[in-house]
Amino acid sequence: MNDIKFLIFITFTLISAVCSVEEIPDFLQICHESDPKLSQCVTNSIHALKPLLKTGIPDYDIIGLEPLELGDLLVAGSKTGQGLSISAKDIKVYGAGNFFVKNFKIIEYASKYTFDIELPHLWVVGQYIMDGRVLFLPIKGAGNFSGNFTQGKGDVRLKGIQKEVNGQTHFMVSKLDIKITVQRGKIELENLFGGDKTLGDIINSAINDNFETFSQDLIPLIEKSLSRIFKSTGNKIFKRFTLAQLFP
Ligand SMILES: *[C@@H]1O[C@H](CO)[C@@H](O)[C@H](O)[C@H]1NC(C)=O
Ligand SMILES: *[C@@H]1O[C@H](CO)[C@@H](O)[C@H](O)[C@H]1NC(C)=O
Repeated sequence: MNDIKFLIFITFTLISAVCSVEEIPDFLQICHESDPKLSQCVTNSIHALKPLLKTGIPDYDIIGLEPLELGDLLVAGSKTGQGLSISAKDIKVYGAGNFFVKNFKIIEYASKYTFDIELPHLWVVGQYIMDGRVLFLPIKGAGNFSGNFTQGKGDVRLKGIQKEVNGQTHFMVSKLDIKITVQRGKIELENLFGGDKTLGDIINSAINDNFETFSQDLIPLIEKSLSRIFKSTGNKIFKRFTLAQLFP
């Protein structure tokens, strides 16, 4: 190439880099509307993203799923009907990155989707403070807690809209609802009664006998956090590419 040709080449490369949209990176597997196994293709494509979803994608400003930070929670005392107040803080959930997508359904191409996610094992850790009475027994404790939720299942509904940005049409998730149910779980509060094992075990088993009371407060936090992350992750990816690129 002589100098002039080289200069023209560079100029064109630069201009097209500025004007055109980004190329699809290797980690995004694109599915075609004409694919007879489209649902399976999308499912595979989401599963292929899992390692990146776990750690996050710093270049895209996407945070990882491991752990999910849930913040604080007050399990209201009156709800238990036992004059017991439990609050938890710095709650973190591990294991959300090991989800599996099932029953992916395309209700309307590039617009409405439903699918299930299976969450085989969520491991929750945090700190708690408990204070109150059960019958005549004063119960007090503060320390770490951990819990396992197994065989979780989430019902996901996703709605997207098309948006014009700089003359290009993009897909954007406008709504993403997740409804989670867990089959089983177990929680363990450490350091109850200043670490008295016998009393601690009694209260822990009483709490686990009423596991639903605890989980019905915690699960909505997990649902909200997961849907927020999935939605923002999706949109941070979708905004970089056009509808035509992602939904050919
Ligand atoms: C409580 O958990 C924190 C964070 O995981 C840990 O650093 C700390 O040592 C734990 N405290 C006790 C008393 O086990
Ligand atoms: C949660 O599961 C882990 C193993 O994955 C286990 O080590 C831990 O004891 C379990 N915790 C509770 C509270 O059952």
